[in-house]
Amino acid sequence: MLVNGTPYRTVWQDRESGAIRVIDQRKLPFVFEIETLRTVDAVAEAIRDMHVRGAGCIGATAAYGMALAAAEAGGAGDFDRAVAESAERLIATRPTAVNLRWAVDRQLAAMAACGRVSEKLAAAEATAQAIADEDAEWCRQIGRHGLEIVRRIADTKPAGEAVNILTHCNAGWLAFVDHGSATSPIYAAREAGIPVHVWVDETRPRNQGARLTAWELGQQGIPHTVIADNTGGHLMQRGRVDLVITGTDRTSRAGDVANKIGTYLKALAARDNGVPFHVALPSSTFDWSIADGVRDIPIEERDGSEVATISGWESGGEREVRLIPEGSRASNFAFDVTPARLVTGLITERGICEASEEGIRGLFPEKFALVTG
Ligand code: MRU
Repeated sequence: MLVNGTPYRTVWQDRESGAIRVIDQRKLPFVFEIETLRTVDAVAEAIRDMHVRGAGCIGATAAYGMALAAAEAGGAGDFDRAVAESAERLIATRPTAVNLRWAVDRQLAAMAACGRVSEKLAAAEATAQAIADEDAEWCRQIGRHGLEIVRRIADTKPAGEAVNILTHCNAGWLAFVDHGSATSPIYAAREAGIPVHVWVDETRPRNQGARLTAWELGQQGIPHTVIADNTGGHLMQRGRVDLVITGTDRTSRAGDVANKIGTYLKALAARDNGVPFHVALPSSTFDWSIADGVRDIPIEERDGSEVATISGWESGGEREVRLIPEGSRASNFAFDVTPARLVTGLITERGICEASEEGIRGLFPEKFALVTG
């Protein structure tokens, strides 16, 4: 997508040096900076400390990290063991977004299919590129399918009146390689000439909505308004939200959706007010091994300091201030799970389906051939 008019991806590999380049998301929206990652350790740190974040972006960055892992292992005595250790290190960085494990496992399988080390190295580079390209294309397709939902709502409104879409956290292009999941239908609607306005949940504690989604939408010229996290229910009661679209970090094969903390409350409010609640995801975000997401999706707990403090921009620099009394404890559950029954539909690269095992099976029958239990 465009940054000051120039197209960017969130992560890519420098052809000459082999280094990985990422947009450092910690500094947005105040500073746009590209970071260079040259080692697996640097990639692991970038994911753990959220220089990059968002399910698809984490997956693609880890995929490129595995290409670095292969390069690092090239000189090691036991190539496979060295790569397996790097894989474990990358997987351990963040527990909820399943794209991470999916990308690392795909890299391991690609390398395992090769005989010589030189072939494994080439396979790792090619697979990283394929994962990144696929992520971008799948998100583009999500936009194409999701556009129809926005169009149907627009058709019920007086001509020229904007469709009001609420989103939580950042499931925009920064959370992927390009286009985004929840935002892709919004960009597609805009391109199709449908007026849209986005309510952007600020998304405490790290404010991915206020900082990242608002910046992204602003860069693309999409009208939007940042709201405090607890505002959505009120807006829905007053008829000021036509549609909710969120992303997800992991979705069970029965359609339970793990997403940034607070998503579940928006889904409850949406159900109470008859507002459609859609979740947009590429198939790399399904966890085919989990049936009951509420029970079995691991929820990342981050440091309480992210709740106890807030950071913002003042006189040319970033500043962190304390919000809660010294001595008060803060806990920081990073995600929650919205049960499938509250989800109106899933928007995937293959089309839209009901959030149920039957609905998902209809779009991805081959994935269920491998499911046991
Ligand atoms: O903790 P983050 O920023 O990596 O969380 C991910 C998210 O931004 C959201 O949960 C998002 O809606 C889904 S990621 C496509």
